[in-house]
Amino acid sequence: MCAPAMEAGRSADEIREVNTRYHDVAAPSYDSKWAIDFGPVGQAQVLGKLQKLLGNWLRQGYGRSVEIGAGTGYFSLNLLQAGVVREATCTDISPGMIHTLSANARRLGLSIRTARADAESLPFPAQSFDLVLGHAVLHHLPDLDRAFAEFHRVLRPGGRIAFAGEPSRVGDRIAAIPKRGASALAPAWRALIGAGTPPPEPSDDVNGDDADHALERLVDIHAFSPGELRSHAKRAGFEDVTVRGEELMANWFGWFNRALEASANPDEVPMLWRQYAFNGYLLLQRLDRRVLEPLLPPAIFYNLLLTARRT
Ligand SMILES: C[S@@+](CC[C@H](N)C(=O)[O-])C[C@H]1O[C@@H](n2cnc3c(N)ncnc32)[C@H](O)[C@@H]1O
Repeated sequence: MCAPAMEAGRSADEIREVNTRYHDVAAPSYDSKWAIDFGPVGQAQVLGKLQKLLGNWLRQGYGRSVEIGAGTGYFSLNLLQAGVVREATCTDISPGMIHTLSANARRLGLSIRTARADAESLPFPAQSFDLVLGHAVLHHLPDLDRAFAEFHRVLRPGGRIAFAGEPSRVGDRIAAIPKRGASALAPAWRALIGAGTPPPEPSDDVNGDDADHALERLVDIHAFSPGELRSHAKRAGFEDVTVRGEELMANWFGWFNRALEASANPDEVPMLWRQYAFNGYLLLQRLDRRVLEPLLPPAIFYNLLLTARRT
């Protein structure tokens, strides 16, 4: 079991249960909360991340992919639309996420296979896939060695894993600085844009949704060093293991603005501010990609990306 889970005294089963409950509640509003897009912007974001990891292998395309913790379909649905994968299987431990993902696929006219599955016990025969992928999922898994052994088992020889959006331990600590700065500046910022504080949450919460939203801090159980991610892949028998770092300036800017926005009534945040925050983020992502990512060590970036090959 991972160190943070042991500190909290929670078993692996409890961690899976909390993840399921939290993500079931989060599923209906997940796409709007995280600005998940299934048009050209979303496709460019997903392709950009995988291009960093897979380079020329991305151009060759993949026949059968399986996504772990696919959520509402951000990666698989965009990759299908971009023609990078031919047959996509999407798995998640949360039935609510699978439900939203299936609705997204229907709306986009995409054919996919779904399975409610724990990453540590995949319901597929050995050597079923050419690509095992995931975004922002590894840090939720209680037993990473078991999960990596499953990724290895379901891949055909020569197939690849590609994981993106995993929090880096050092990057996570650095990201606390803009969050704290935004909290201090929030009252002045609200006065400047003429917004009030958010309305109080409704107290007659018969579904227990408030309580489940409070689980958010319990579902993220790991932050990684590049070496730790590499070791998990190697212990499972993978070769050609590569870890890269992604997003530094973009992330500071994003967390700063997100923390400011969270302090205000969402209906009173002007559209002009939202456009500035979104376009500024995209601009800084380009700066990170072209200048900082090739230059600086992966550990200091906010997100880590991992790829490896099954021999
Ligand atoms: C942060 S969300 C990311 C969703 C999606 N990949 C994305 O990028 O939008 C993490 C996802 O992992 C799923 N998850 C958590 N624990 C899991 C487990 N043990 N096995 C499979 N999926 C899990 C959650 O239900 C959730 O959908």
